[in-house]
Amino acid sequence: MKLTKLEAEKKVSELKKLLNQANEAYYQDAKPIMSDREFDHKLEALLEIELEFGLQTPDSPTVRIGGAPTKVFNNVTHPIPMLSLSNTYNLNELRDFDRRVKSLLGHDNYTYNAELKYDGMALRLRYENGHLVLGATRGDGTTGDDITANVRTIKDIPLKLHGDVPKIVEIRGEAFMELESFANLNEQREEAGEQTYANPRNFTSGSLKTQDPTIVAQRPVRFFAYDLLLDDADELTQSEKLDMLANFGLPVCDIRAKCDTIDEVCTLIEDWGKKQHTYPFETDGAVIKVNEEKYREILGQTVKAPRWAIAYKFESEQAVTKITDITLQVGRLGTITPVAELEPVLLAGTTVKRASLHNEDEINRKDIRIGDTVMIEKAGEIIPQVIKVVNPDAPNRNEPFQFPRVCPACGSELVRVEGEAAWRCINPKCPPQVRIRIQHFASRDAMDIEGLGEAVVDQLVENKLIETFADLYELKAYEISQLERMGEKSAMKLIEAIDKSRNQPFERVLYGLGIRFVGNKVAKDLAAAFKNIDALCKATAEELTEVDSIGPRIADSVTGFFSSEENTELIERLRNYGLKFKSEGDSEISDKLSGQTFVITGTLPTLKRNEAKELIEMHGGKVTGSVSKKTDYLLAGEEAGSKLDKAKNLEVQIISQEELFELIK
Ligand code: IVH
Repeated sequence: MKLTKLEAEKKVSELKKLLNQANEAYYQDAKPIMSDREFDHKLEALLEIELEFGLQTPDSPTVRIGGAPTKVFNNVTHPIPMLSLSNTYNLNELRDFDRRVKSLLGHDNYTYNAELKYDGMALRLRYENGHLVLGATRGDGTTGDDITANVRTIKDIPLKLHGDVPKIVEIRGEAFMELESFANLNEQREEAGEQTYANPRNFTSGSLKTQDPTIVAQRPVRFFAYDLLLDDADELTQSEKLDMLANFGLPVCDIRAKCDTIDEVCTLIEDWGKKQHTYPFETDGAVIKVNEEKYREILGQTVKAPRWAIAYKFESEQAVTKITDITLQVGRLGTITPVAELEPVLLAGTTVKRASLHNEDEINRKDIRIGDTVMIEKAGEIIPQVIKVVNPDAPNRNEPFQFPRVCPACGSELVRVEGEAAWRCINPKCPPQVRIRIQHFASRDAMDIEGLGEAVVDQLVENKLIETFADLYELKAYEISQLERMGEKSAMKLIEAIDKSRNQPFERVLYGLGIRFVGNKVAKDLAAAFKNIDALCKATAEELTEVDSIGPRIADSVTGFFSSEENTELIERLRNYGLKFKSEGDSEISDKLSGQTFVITGTLPTLKRNEAKELIEMHGGKVTGSVSKKTDYLLAGEEAGSKLDKAKNLEVQIISQEELFELIK
């Protein structure tokens, strides 16, 4: 249907508004409101109308690269703009790209370099005389944020380059977070009642845009360099530049290949697509670059993207389903999380029935209502999330969802602290919170009380046998045996397990207390630094922040916890029951593994992973989540996955549990 000029103007203005909102949500808030594919379609539609009716203006999203620098950091201008990439979604589109390259060059005497497209946040690094002098975000492509202080905390990024390097080295690359670290950290945040992130990309950009570098330093942000800008690079290829970057000491992803023809590229990236979910980080596609640097200039660029490179997006994992209800979950620390109950739908191989809606603002921003048909997406393969409402103009939609102001569990009034997105129930006796606190106390990383799972805790609380975790130590076997599905034998076993938990080390007790923001790593650090609860109890916020991993927020939470009489009484009771409130000497029993870095993968014959980790740490070794050149050993069990391949590639020594025992004998 042909548009009139008036209709075209209206459509252009609507699309511009929507795309600008999408850009802002993506770049500034790091919370996308539509999928990449949808964004591209809309952008294409806009461009088509703009061109047909001569309506393109310099501020149009078809001209600007998304985002703008934020106001809180110093701005920095990029002498060479940080462009975006055009996308292709199938091999035909990719072949079109090749045809364009060939016709622009007038010959086919070129090769390609294919790389994975890391789904994180673009960074610009500048080294002068080998020293890192700048780390910046892309911003709007011309002006970004100077986040050097934060970038300096990224361990992958050397502060000084190796070897003989040019006076000025400009590097482009991607900061990202590995899926495993993301999942662990998010879990810790959830446990600590903090806001969780929807995917690793948001977590990365959220971290790097934090004002406090000490917080960034605690986040396992990784980096892959993907471009090196040199003055006289004409004789070089992209493949060679990546090798140079690696020699400079920068991490370069080894999933890359030089391809002589587009056919080779197609075969390769199809294979990568199949393996998309085996990589330890998120990737949503590949980037195909004309390999010879000298052709970059000839091919040039459009306003947004170079003509010498293109992104190929793997098929995305989205599905459409209906929201049957919005329910509210009460977390351990009272955080109320809205959850979309969905008509079950198959997504990336699993049936999805629920998706987190994060918080009230998110529901309002996306205008999500009960009964809506929505598009959901697996974010980082972990948490399904609602991307958008598919039928926002449907005539019979329900009224907007009213976020309650009282706790759905206990009816107390909810509070929302300024600056926080979540509503919280602050009634300490709120039943689900009581239950979750006890479950947390009994959990594997805390007191590890076998047999005290969710169902048993629920029964104990419902039957008023316990109100706090301290009450566990007064339970009698006959009381437990009265519970449904609990015989005398299991009751005795549970009593024994509770009894045994008195031997758990101080750091676990501390973690089990459930202090907000104190996950098991922080608990370990606090226990190591203060040695006992009395010292910790007396510590001021300043003293607490002297510990490496403790920022002001954690410090405030810890002092706040100990200033409550209820909490100190609880601790006194636990102390009287014989729980450990001081570190037992030095937990290291040898330094046989000192200076050695381990990664654990697969199922070990007898040790659980956390037990293997503890064992290594007890002997002075360090355990990290992913294999890199810095890894000394990969401890591999059965069904080891991609980490094993990576270790083989990097020639990291691979050992069995048996061999680990040998090392510490
Ligand atoms: S090359 C001119 N290579 O994708 C832009 N980009 O959609 C050249 N990205 O902002 C970019 N992996 O942050 C390139 N191997 C890779 C990449 C990559 C991820 C990101 C990059 C860029 C975005 C464009």
